[in-house]
Amino acid sequence: MYVSTDTQRRVLAWYRKHGRSFPWRETRDPYRTLVAEVMLQQTQTGRVGPIYGEFLERFPSIEALARAPAAEVIRAWRGLGYNRRAIALHVAAQIIAREHGGTVPDDPLVLRSLPGVGDYTAHAVACFAYGADVTVADVNVKRVLARAVHGREPRAVAPDKLARTIETWLPRGGAYLWNQALMDVGATLCRSASPLCGTCPMRRSCSWRMKGRTSSTPPRKKGERFEGSRRQARGRVIDHLRLAVEKGITVKDLFTKLHPDGGGDASQFTEILLRLSDEGLLQLTPSARGGHPRGIVRLPVKTR
Ligand code: ADE
Repeated sequence: MYVSTDTQRRVLAWYRKHGRSFPWRETRDPYRTLVAEVMLQQTQTGRVGPIYGEFLERFPSIEALARAPAAEVIRAWRGLGYNRRAIALHVAAQIIAREHGGTVPDDPLVLRSLPGVGDYTAHAVACFAYGADVTVADVNVKRVLARAVHGREPRAVAPDKLARTIETWLPRGGAYLWNQALMDVGATLCRSASPLCGTCPMRRSCSWRMKGRTSSTPPRKKGERFEGSRRQARGRVIDHLRLAVEKGITVKDLFTKLHPDGGGDASQFTEILLRLSDEGLLQLTPSARGGHPRGIVRLPVKTR
């Protein structure tokens, strides 16, 4: 595959001038990098910024996070959504404290074995904290290179083919800046809707632009909408528990708070509670487990 070193140079020059500044770009500390990358998995940078700072003040080290009660970690996750990530990060910190002497591993394969750490996060930590020459293929990076190299949207390129392209385009010895730069090109110029090709550093060689920027975002599928509403319901349960007193709230009161207008599906509600409890996001007394209105629901107090 042909790789334009001119294009690479232009991208890096653009990044030096226009790269965004973020608190996680001011550190190479592996713990801080891990926290940032887990937070950034499904949450936009603007939302992560302030919460990231507060989280690190509250839990300044792997040990501090590992020792904290799960309920506190879930509280500190407020505003980020996808609360399961908080539990996964907490358990990961406990594993790192116990099995890795408190040091975040540098090997992507070892990182990958931690809860909540997939290929993306493993590579991000290896590259951004330890300077490893590895690809960090988030949705932005995939979109930029699928368009620029293959002239297509990422979903129209076979995943292994796109992975090879991303690998081939990685400038050896310069992965850190390259990965950060492509993220910014994707987030600020090569946006999924209304891209700003006029100022893009890749415009001279971009296949997608030459082909007339065909295709757009497909409409949402039905299933995704259902998943969305279920996720929202789960999030609201945890949001209410964050506000509840330490000893928790009854099933009935929680249900009423969630459905102040009297609606709501009680059996779906119980199902969500059981699921959240299995995932370690809340605790249920035995009667709450059985769906009894006076059963108690609370954030997990015991450290696992
Ligand atoms: N999204 C995920 N990781 C990021 C990073 N390091 N900088 C900007 N956006 C990101």
